[in-house]
Amino acid sequence: MSQYSVRLRTESFQGGVRDAQTDVETCAQRRAGRRERTTIIEEASWETLPDDMQSFLPGATFDAVICLGNSFAHLLDEFEDQRTQKMCLRNFAKVLKPGGLLFIDHRNYDAMINSGATPGHSIYYNCSYPVDIKTSVLVVRGKPELVALDYLIHTNDDAELNEQSMFRLCYYPHKLDKFTSMLDEAFDNKAEHSIYADFKALDQVDNPAYYIHVMRKPLN
Ligand SMILES: C[S@@+](CC[C@H](N)C(=O)[O-])C[C@H]1O[C@@H](n2cnc3c(N)ncnc32)[C@H](O)[C@@H]1O
Repeated sequence: MSQYSVRLRTESFQGGVRDAQTDVETCAQRRAGRRERTTIIEEASWETLPDDMQSFLPGATFDAVICLGNSFAHLLDEFEDQRTQKMCLRNFAKVLKPGGLLFIDHRNYDAMINSGATPGHSIYYNCSYPVDIKTSVLVVRGKPELVALDYLIHTNDDAELNEQSMFRLCYYPHKLDKFTSMLDEAFDNKAEHSIYADFKALDQVDNPAYYIHVMRKPLN
């Protein structure tokens, strides 16, 4: 959750980074450090978040939890019933204060499943080179269970140099309707739930690249 932590810190919010990957933490620390602010960085897993937090911030709850950049879709569905994802969403709800906010997003997997293509524009990355994304959808027992995105980035404007970067990322393809109800259930159907398309009102964007959900935990 590095870039959001750094942005929040530069806006004078207090916060921390919870990530399962030490590289992300180190990177966040370095970037925050350059701006001479203090970031609390701890290692935690979404799967054990409340317990992990007990060890370094006993009893703490937060004004906001931010899980953006299509991060949550990295959690795959090993049991084919999304039980781990549901548990993690409940964990996010648990560590919020009453009235606290969860910001969480996913790519527009409905579009990817229906068309076999990834909406080209990105609201998060500002890459000046052409990016080609090959989209593959794995269907298991009639249900889309995994999307593989093969990125091909031409890292030089000079076509003759043919410099390229290629990598593959795999995600769980969250459909908007299902993810919406999973989130509602994680807050016992009591939270205020707003959905945005590429951070705009839903009716303003035809084929969004991302859906962003904002959950407000009830006050009691
Ligand atoms: C696409 S990266 C986004 C990183 C960050 N949002 C950013 O933009 O700089 C997804 C992140 O999710 C983290 N992640 C995946 N599964 C996790 C889990 N179970 N618990 C905590 N973090 C996890 C990965 O370590 C990875 O850093």
